[in-house]
Amino acid sequence: MTVPALPTGLFGPDYYQDPYPAFAWLRDNAPVHEFRFPVGDVRTWIVSRFEDVHALLGDSRFSNDAEAYASREFIDSGMVMGADTVVSRILTVLDPPDHTRVRKLAMGAFTPRRVAQWREPTERIVAASLDRLAESERPDIVDYASAIPAAVIGEILGIPFSRYNDMIHAIDRAFRPNDDKNVVTRAFEEIAEYGRDLIKEKRGMLGDDLMSVFIQARDGDDRLDEDELVAMLALMIMAGLDTTRNLIGSAVLALLDHPEQRKLLMGDPELVPGAVEEFLRYEGALTVGLFRFAKEDMEFAGTHLPAGAPVVAALQSANRDPRRFENPDVLDITRKGPRHVGFGHGLHNCLGAALARIEAGVAIPAVFERFPDIALAIPRDEVAYAENWLLRGLASLPVHLNTPGR
Ligand code: HEM
Repeated sequence: MTVPALPTGLFGPDYYQDPYPAFAWLRDNAPVHEFRFPVGDVRTWIVSRFEDVHALLGDSRFSNDAEAYASREFIDSGMVMGADTVVSRILTVLDPPDHTRVRKLAMGAFTPRRVAQWREPTERIVAASLDRLAESERPDIVDYASAIPAAVIGEILGIPFSRYNDMIHAIDRAFRPNDDKNVVTRAFEEIAEYGRDLIKEKRGMLGDDLMSVFIQARDGDDRLDEDELVAMLALMIMAGLDTTRNLIGSAVLALLDHPEQRKLLMGDPELVPGAVEEFLRYEGALTVGLFRFAKEDMEFAGTHLPAGAPVVAALQSANRDPRRFENPDVLDITRKGPRHVGFGHGLHNCLGAALARIEAGVAIPAVFERFPDIALAIPRDEVAYAENWLLRGLASLPVHLNTPGR
C-alpha cells in the first residue's frame, strides 16, 4: 500500500500557517521522521507522538549541548546558538551536573513567595497596556501582547527600561538569520557587554529584584560566576518575551474564534487557570522544542539514530495527539485530564512557567472584560502566523475594540 505524501513540507510556508495536517500525517505514518531541516539544510529527525515526545524530553541519552554532541553537519551549518560567546553556555544547553547546579541557583529566584509578588505589577502593567490599546489608532492584540511581558520582565529583573530595550535590540539582531556571522557574534558580544555593565551597576545597589537574587544566588559556597550571570540575564529576556506574547495573542484569537468558550470564561473567573492550560495545549507558544542531540548510536521509538543526530520534539503535535487527548482539535477550557507539554518536560522544563501562568491569566481575560465588543478587523483567513521554526505566534492581530451592533 502506498502512503500519501506529507500534506505540507515541514517548516515551509504552508506549515507555518497550519502545521496540524503535517503533524497528523507524521503521527500516523512516521512518528520518528527523518528529513532535511531547511534552516541550515541539516539531516534531522522530528518526533511527533505525545508518548515519544515525552520520552525524548526525559531521556538522558540525549543532550541539548550542540557543541559537545551535535553532528559535524549541524555545527558547520551555523545553527549553534550564540556560538563562541557566553550565550552558548546558557542553562537550556547545559547537561548535568552543570545544569543541576545553575538551575538550582536560578530556582531560588522563582520561589512561590516571590512569584506570588509578581501578580500585582502584572495587573498594573496589563491595565496600562489596555489603556494604550484603547488609545491606539490601529489596535493590534500582538502589540498589546508584546508590551506586557517586556514591561513585566524589565520590572521584576529590576533593570532600567532604556538599558533593557538596548538588550532586547541586541538579542533581536543576534537571532535574526544573517549570512554574515560576524554581525551575529558582535550582537552576542554586545549582549555580554550590556550584561556585565548592568551587573556592575546592580552590585552597588542590591534590592529585592530578580537580578539581585541572581547576583546573590548561593548554594553553599557556590555562586553563578560572571559569565553565568550574563547568560542568565540574556536567557530571562530571550525565554520570557516572545513566548508569553505568543500565548496571549493565540489565546485571544482562539476566544474570538470560539464565542461560546469566551462566554463561559467571562462568566466564571474560576475557570481562568484551567483555560490557561488549555490555551497552552491548543496553541502553545513553541511549535517544537530546542534541538536535542543523540549522545550515542541508539534505538529510539523503533528508529535507529546515529550519534550526533539532531532531533526535534514537536510539542504542538504532542499536544494535539488523539492517542493522548480526547477531541484534541477542540478548544475546551473546562477540559480535565492529562497534562500537555506546552512548558516542555524533564530537566529543561520551563523555569518561568509560574510567571507565564500569571501573565496569561491576567492579560487574556482582561481584553474581553475591557472590550466586550472586540472583533477581528481583518478577514479571518488573512490572520497570519510568523514564520519562525521554534516559536508559534501571530504576526499581527488587528481588531476593532468596539464593534457597533454586536
Ligand atoms: C507562555 C509562556 C512560556 C512558554 C509556553 C514557555 C515554554 C517553555 C518550554 C517548552 C521550555 C522547554 C524547551 C525545551 O525543553 O526545548 C521552556 C524552557 C525555559 N523557559 Fe519557558 N516558557 C514561557 C515563558 C517563560 C518565562 C516568562 C520565563 C522566565 C522569565 C521562562 C524561562 C524559561 C527557562 C529559563 C527555560 C530553560 C530551563 C532549563 O533549560 O532548565 N519561560 N519554556
